Amino acid sequence: MTEAELFFMYKGTYVLHGTHTPETLKYFEEFSFRPDDIIIATYPKSGTTWSQEIVPLIVSGGDPTCLQSPNWERVPWLEECQKFSLNLEERPSPRLFTTHVQYNMMPPSFFQVKPRVINVMRNPKDVFTSAFHYFEKASYHLNPGPQNEFLHKFLDGKVLHGSWFDHVKSWLNAEDKEHMMHISYEEMIMDLKDSVSRIAQFLEIPLDDEVIKNIADRCLFKNMRTNSSNFSMVPPEMNGVSKSEFMRKGITGDWKNQLTVAEAECFDAVYKDQMKDVKYKFAWD
Ligand code: A3P
Repeated sequence: MTEAELFFMYKGTYVLHGTHTPETLKYFEEFSFRPDDIIIATYPKSGTTWSQEIVPLIVSGGDPTCLQSPNWERVPWLEECQKFSLNLEERPSPRLFTTHVQYNMMPPSFFQVKPRVINVMRNPKDVFTSAFHYFEKASYHLNPGPQNEFLHKFLDGKVLHGSWFDHVKSWLNAEDKEHMMHISYEEMIMDLKDSVSRIAQFLEIPLDDEVIKNIADRCLFKNMRTNSSNFSMVPPEMNGVSKSEFMRKGITGDWKNQLTVAEAECFDAVYKDQMKDVKYKFAWD
């Protein structure tokens, strides 16, 4: 299979034929949001699955039974096909959703209703590293090929879900900032309890300190990786990736083990140029 057979261009970014059909995209574009919907917006490999664990726990007041359904059911991707059997219109509020699309690609109802968004970002060099390893394994994707080639595709945005730079800038430059929270994978690694507490505050969900601590403990990498009562992962028969392969390292700065000095310099040069107008202070800078 070639990339041309695997991907198609949707509003300027590559998406997968397998999960993005004309029907799913029409449904997405016509979707009616409610003001109390909660959306996790991420570029892939930035902590999506982690957030899909944390946010339901916060919303349920720390009740682990909320994790009994798999992540694509409890926090479905709005633009992908898994949602068709999920009766999203009938779900009680607050409904939780995930999206990998850029801000400007959100449907009209999103801009009218202004639901809350938790935008999780990660150092793009670690996103690249995580994606490179993941695409080597994922059965629905092509092997990423030689690292240097994949690096240039990543920097040019010629990868699944498009440019990391465009994605991050689109959500950072979003209007209606009071409905949006930006947090990074790095902040979550640095202090998960504080991150859980900040997300709960943003969602206006009062939680006891003990509950916050329990959520953070449960969502530590080592616990998510080994907890067999945790059903958050896409099963290996769907993507060819086992839970332990998906939960690969869960650290910051792994790019240092992956990129050559020349590749890191090239990355930095593109980053500097692409992000020159961005005022946001990233935890990884
Ligand atoms: P690595 O490949 O660097 O280990 P996404 O869910 O957006 O696809 O992101 C996957 C990345 O998040 C993987 O990174 C995975 O290990 C990491 N991850 C998932 N759960 C985590 C957790 N509880 N703590 C830290 N990292 C986590």
